[in-house]
Amino acid sequence: MQRTRRHANARRAAALGVLACAAALAAPAGAAAVDPRVLLTQYKCYICHADRQAKAGPAYEDVAPNFRGKPDAGGIIARNIRHGMRSGGPWHMPPHPEVSPAEARAMARYIMSLAPAQR
Ligand code: HEC
Repeated sequence: MQRTRRHANARRAAALGVLACAAALAAPAGAAAVDPRVLLTQYKCYICHADRQAKAGPAYEDVAPNFRGKPDAGGIIARNIRHGMRSGGPWHMPPHPEVSPAEARAMARYIMSLAPAQR
């Protein structure tokens, strides 16, 4: 009897853990101050990109240096995120009209904050 109860408690604790994770992920959606990495995950950007590794798309840390010092870099990157981009490589960046301008800006700011020197 004792044994089964402990078992049930463990299972309940595990279930609560899952719930807590789900709540943590769901809560920031739509809020103003969302962690940009949550957005990048939510919009599936990490299918083609990684922060520090080239996949179908460039590593985000390699995007930032191209824009450093450019006026309105965040605006250009945000526009490329929402409108897509095709600069001749084997893959192109698909448009993401479902991303709001503010969300695109937040993601662009995060991408700009990644410096290769941090490797
Ligand atoms: C289907 C694959 C794919 C997905 C999904 C994708 N990208 Fe890209 N992305 C690319 C490719 C490929 C490029 C390079 C395009 C080129 O140079 O022509 C790129 C380029 C970029 C660039 C560089 C833009 C520039 O101006 O140099 C940024 C920033 C970027 N993606 C952000 C994102 C974000 C944010 C998302 C999610 C909303 C996303 N990508 C989703 C494939 C993808």
